[in-house]
Amino acid sequence: MLRIQPALPERYTDASPDELDQMIGSAKAALGDRLFILGHHYQRDEVMRWADARGDSYRLSVLAQERPDAEFIVFCGVHFMAESADVLTGDHQQVILPDLNAGCSMADMADLDEVEEAWEALEQVVDIERLVPITYMNSSASLKAFVGRKGGAVCTSTNARAVLEWALAKGDKVLFFPDQHLGRNTGLAMGYGLDDMQVWNPRLELGGLTEVEAKEATFLLWKGHCSVHQRFRPEHVEAFRAEHPDGIVIAHPECSHELCQVADKVGSTDFIIKEVEAAPEGSTIAVATEIHLVQRLDHETPGKTIQSLDPLICPCSTMFRIDGPHLAWVLENLVEGRVVNQITVDTDTAEWARVALQRMLDIT
Ligand code: 13P
Ligand code: SF4
Repeated sequence: MLRIQPALPERYTDASPDELDQMIGSAKAALGDRLFILGHHYQRDEVMRWADARGDSYRLSVLAQERPDAEFIVFCGVHFMAESADVLTGDHQQVILPDLNAGCSMADMADLDEVEEAWEALEQVVDIERLVPITYMNSSASLKAFVGRKGGAVCTSTNARAVLEWALAKGDKVLFFPDQHLGRNTGLAMGYGLDDMQVWNPRLELGGLTEVEAKEATFLLWKGHCSVHQRFRPEHVEAFRAEHPDGIVIAHPECSHELCQVADKVGSTDFIIKEVEAAPEGSTIAVATEIHLVQRLDHETPGKTIQSLDPLICPCSTMFRIDGPHLAWVLENLVEGRVVNQITVDTDTAEWARVALQRMLDIT
């Protein structure tokens, strides 16, 4: 989704890294406890060094909720994360995204109109009362609200299995969006087969399925993906193992099923960090996830070699939009009493999105 980020004044675009550090440091000191800066693990180091707390998308929302005294939450991450923080924080708090164009291409692969159309089409062929909608955290607040209204829940890559088990105890089938890979990998880990799953293509009538296919599938997986994680291929694993026969491969579940089935371990950002910490000294670990996290793990874990599974570097271009100039710009504006780039979710959407998020918290 295109959002308009105004061009920054030259004071920021022309500043040297030292000057930017000076601006950010001074503004942060001036704002004190009124400010809480959150940094997602995929952020670049020049931004991450200013974060008061780091985490994955879920953890950062919880952290935002745990700081009701902070007036301004500057979210160094992407749009859907800032929205979730706004949903989970108080009305007196303002959530700020340093660059409005920091979206998520996967989250943009499912919008409310398309999901409502899918629901209406499915109503004609399946028992809709037994269909449970589940949205990945990487989705707009309007989709979280949709699942809240329809009796479904949000999930993250850490708790997708628990949420899907809950959904299939409550109903007969799930409509899972927007990431087909997380849905497929989790369903397979739960013991379902590929023949229990169908891909729902929102551009085609009835998702491109026959009525029988739509009726019989336990998992209807939205045709969405993360372009960063989808790049990793089984050939990368073969090449890594040829060079490091004792090496360990860890993949994020947004990677394809073909990749996940040949990886040694599969799990969320949080899982990857814990596995790297727990690996024996001297290990060589290839990680299939965003490069800034991989490089930071390597720097911060002496005695182990952590590398990207894809040697051709794999950054998330939207996470990368958050940089020193944008951070300095939002902070200096706050010092001047101006809130720029505030992310707000309207009251009705926020109320239902909160219901869906709360169901996830209650399940896990
Ligand atoms: P996390 O939920 O692990 O933070 O993942 C965010 C993300 O964008 C993964 O691609
Ligand atoms: Fe979205 Fe993928 Fe970037 Fe995560 S890594 S923010 S899913 S595009």
